[in-house]
Amino acid sequence: MIRFNTGRVSFSRIHSMESKQKDVSPTRKRGKLPPSLERRANGLALLLALLASCPALAGALQSALPRCEYLENPLGLDVAQPRLSWIVESGQRDQKQSAYRILVASNQAMLARGQGDRWDSGKVASSDTTAIPYGGKPLTSHHRCFWKVQVWDKDDNPSAWSAPALWSMGLLEPGAWQAEWIGCDKWRRLDAPPASGPGAKPPTALILPPPIYLRKDFRLPKAVKQATLYATALGLCDVYLNGARVNESRFDPGWTDYTKRVYYRAYDVTDRLHVGANALGAVLADGWYGSYLGWRGVRDNYGKKPRFRGQLHIEYVDGSFEDVGTGPAWKASLGPIREADFLMGEAYDARLEQAGWNAPAFDDSAWSPVVTGAELHPVVQHHPGPAVGVCGLFRPKRITEPKKGTYVLDLGQNFAGVARLQVAGEPGRKITLRFAERLNPDGTIYTANLRTARATDTYFCRGSQTEVWEPRFTFHGFQYVEVTGLADPPTPATITGIALGSDTPSCGSFTCSDPMLNRLHTNIYWTQRSNYLDIPTDCPQRDERLGWTGDAQVFMRAATLNADVQAFFTKWLVDLEDGQRTDGEFPRVAPLKVVRDNGGPGWADVGAIGPWTLYEVYGDRRLLERHYPGMTRLVDYRLKQCTPDRLPPAEFHCFGDWLSVNADTPKDVIFTAYFARSARLTSLAALALGKSEEAAKYQALFQQIRAAFNKAYVAADGRIKGDTQTAYVLALAFDLLDGPKQKLAAAHLVEDIERRGGHLSTGFLGTKDLMLTLAKIGRNDLAYRLIEQDTFPSWGFTIKQGATTIWERWDGWTPEKGFQDPGLNSFSQCPLAGVYQWMVENIGGIRADGPGYSKILIAPEPGGKLTHAAVSYRSIHGRIESRWQREGAWFTLAVVIPANTTAEVHLPGRMQTPIAKSGKALAQAEGVKLLRQEVGRAVLSVGSGHYVFTSTLE
Ligand code: BGC
Repeated sequence: MIRFNTGRVSFSRIHSMESKQKDVSPTRKRGKLPPSLERRANGLALLLALLASCPALAGALQSALPRCEYLENPLGLDVAQPRLSWIVESGQRDQKQSAYRILVASNQAMLARGQGDRWDSGKVASSDTTAIPYGGKPLTSHHRCFWKVQVWDKDDNPSAWSAPALWSMGLLEPGAWQAEWIGCDKWRRLDAPPASGPGAKPPTALILPPPIYLRKDFRLPKAVKQATLYATALGLCDVYLNGARVNESRFDPGWTDYTKRVYYRAYDVTDRLHVGANALGAVLADGWYGSYLGWRGVRDNYGKKPRFRGQLHIEYVDGSFEDVGTGPAWKASLGPIREADFLMGEAYDARLEQAGWNAPAFDDSAWSPVVTGAELHPVVQHHPGPAVGVCGLFRPKRITEPKKGTYVLDLGQNFAGVARLQVAGEPGRKITLRFAERLNPDGTIYTANLRTARATDTYFCRGSQTEVWEPRFTFHGFQYVEVTGLADPPTPATITGIALGSDTPSCGSFTCSDPMLNRLHTNIYWTQRSNYLDIPTDCPQRDERLGWTGDAQVFMRAATLNADVQAFFTKWLVDLEDGQRTDGEFPRVAPLKVVRDNGGPGWADVGAIGPWTLYEVYGDRRLLERHYPGMTRLVDYRLKQCTPDRLPPAEFHCFGDWLSVNADTPKDVIFTAYFARSARLTSLAALALGKSEEAAKYQALFQQIRAAFNKAYVAADGRIKGDTQTAYVLALAFDLLDGPKQKLAAAHLVEDIERRGGHLSTGFLGTKDLMLTLAKIGRNDLAYRLIEQDTFPSWGFTIKQGATTIWERWDGWTPEKGFQDPGLNSFSQCPLAGVYQWMVENIGGIRADGPGYSKILIAPEPGGKLTHAAVSYRSIHGRIESRWQREGAWFTLAVVIPANTTAEVHLPGRMQTPIAKSGKALAQAEGVKLLRQEVGRAVLSVGSGHYVFTSTLE
């Protein structure tokens, strides 16, 4: 039985980490070790247990994880040819898919009978498992497509059919949307000037326009076969049918540049309709459309009149159709939510609840008429990314009372989300919740870094025995909740932390022998969860929370190793494209608003780096094709901007190596390095897309910029202008130096780190590539020194200060100076978290060796104090795993390579033998080929499967 995507965010593959949620991931079910063993991760027995723990993998090839447009069972798609993907799994070594057959049927029964009335691909000789375009009969609005896939192994043995999966088409044809935009503006002060201005104090409670409640009764004359509700808003909407909320997801329909496009989501509501009386309802809040955005104290950024649009498409059992949509017959009212603003918070007066407002037979005679029509006319499309939902629950770890009657509950983890309040109180009792990431020395909450974000939720009691409330249209970035106004002191049940984020399935794990590095991984993970909320934000707490392009650029690659962000970034790259200027420059933030549209070096370059990164990780050619023109326009714009000798103009905007530590990298060096980088990636993209002439053109441009870089900034002794770690890192990471200069520059980089006592000085841009560059120049010993460092500035230092997420700046809090400038002091920001790429690629040794990890490199570099490590990554081809252990001189490496891929394994040490199952020498082991013996390591080629190797380290 297919589980329909009802818009519900299940986070079924949630990373268990600190939250108490169970990991019920398919990979776990298929044999990942239980957490207790996972943590111990020591001993050969454990490594062998890995092999024994995979019963489901025994046997021939089998397909799993069927997805459409990179989502599981998506509803309401509007791409003409949705693409299908799956992974193949096998317990045998060196297994490959030799062919596949896809069946797509218009109903489940037909699919079960093996009839593909929409499409039967026939047996296709191919090893492809991703992005197979639907090739059947043309699809029109509302079509449901049930599908399954069968695969053949390398010896032509067929698998069983996969479990059935589903996608449905949304509103495709012009005119398919019949429903009108509706709203009600009478409770809004449309002529009011912005509620505050730059530098203004946060507004006091209850002065913001309240969300509005919308409803409509309707009757159905006959039995329903199936029904889909499509909903969108210029604002945020929750939708209800017959008394129950339809969407468990939050903040629908997400953030886009509403002047250009807005997304809808689709929900299967077949089981919720009755013959006879029914009622639809919606709550419409301001959200990104009307809330405060950024720090300028301005509301109504896209428009002043939020709107809702919903269309219920009903197919009756007798084959006839009907649509029930929003229009003039709907009614509007205020409700218990009195205020809802992302930055300011939500206020709820439970005394104002109207029981049954969203169910039939409610007396709405006192409700107001709605108005139709909208002030903006964006295209309405299907949301291509995952919804925002719950990604963790946190219970209070400590309750304190720093001031009489003011309680502070510590949830133990900094995250983005809301607090669920459980209280009892007389009618009208006012309970106030305030939020913070850190505490002041006196135990009160530190809120100075929130700037003008009021971040306050208010609840007025109904007067019942137990009242449970959580806001729907705001979120905060916090670890601590301050509660005032309670009748009795709080208990751990008073507050539950609900972490919210985009439902990007967890796809990685990291554990090792050093608890500090494990904590670092947890901190990176929660920083990503807290900032990937429909768009990649800079921070979740202060009056900012914007899609800063530079932040996305430097962290994106690391993010792919924590969670499957393919659909998430597919969506955001469109936001970015929408923000590209006509001259080719990409903006500082996407979606565009509040902040200027010139990103400048390192920020705008996400326009080239983003599509290329996603291509590398997911092999998504359609996405690269779509964004290739944007890449070329960016590079062409830089070319126009620069001097004839390919150097920066006299004036240009650049944020520089933001928040570096006493090490200013000259902006012209950054400009030129990133110009070269984007030109090179554009050339590679052209090559991948078969545009050889353009590839040659951009490659030639790269060479010219590279030559200019050397001439202008690199001295004969390899010193680069600025002489900062970041200057050397950019030059080395982006291949801007010739052989001898590379060595000299590498020596200067090393020297600088040594001179600082084994410390880094890099900011946003340099930190992205610092560790990878040390690996590249063969100095992972120094990379280990940096990652194991616990004095300022280092990741370890922040952990010693109690960090549970990655800070915006290295000196967010220091024992000597306390909190840094509250103007720029987020404790949850992604850029310095990019180090996770180095951790996976060097501690675990897992690297892509071809687009989409079709070829894999496993080259662990054991170092530092580590005695063991276990790292995994579920690529689009399946789970890759690398576990190693040192015991005296013995080194043991266990690897898992997914079916349909091959890997090169670099086994460090000498006297290598595979001991898994066979105990045979390397050269004779099944599926293993010794390619060459290098100094200090053996290079092996392996097919898919599980392997354990041992060697002795020098
Ligand atoms: C944001 C950053 C952003 C920066 C631009 C800050 O206010 O929080 O993350 O990249 O501005 O330099």
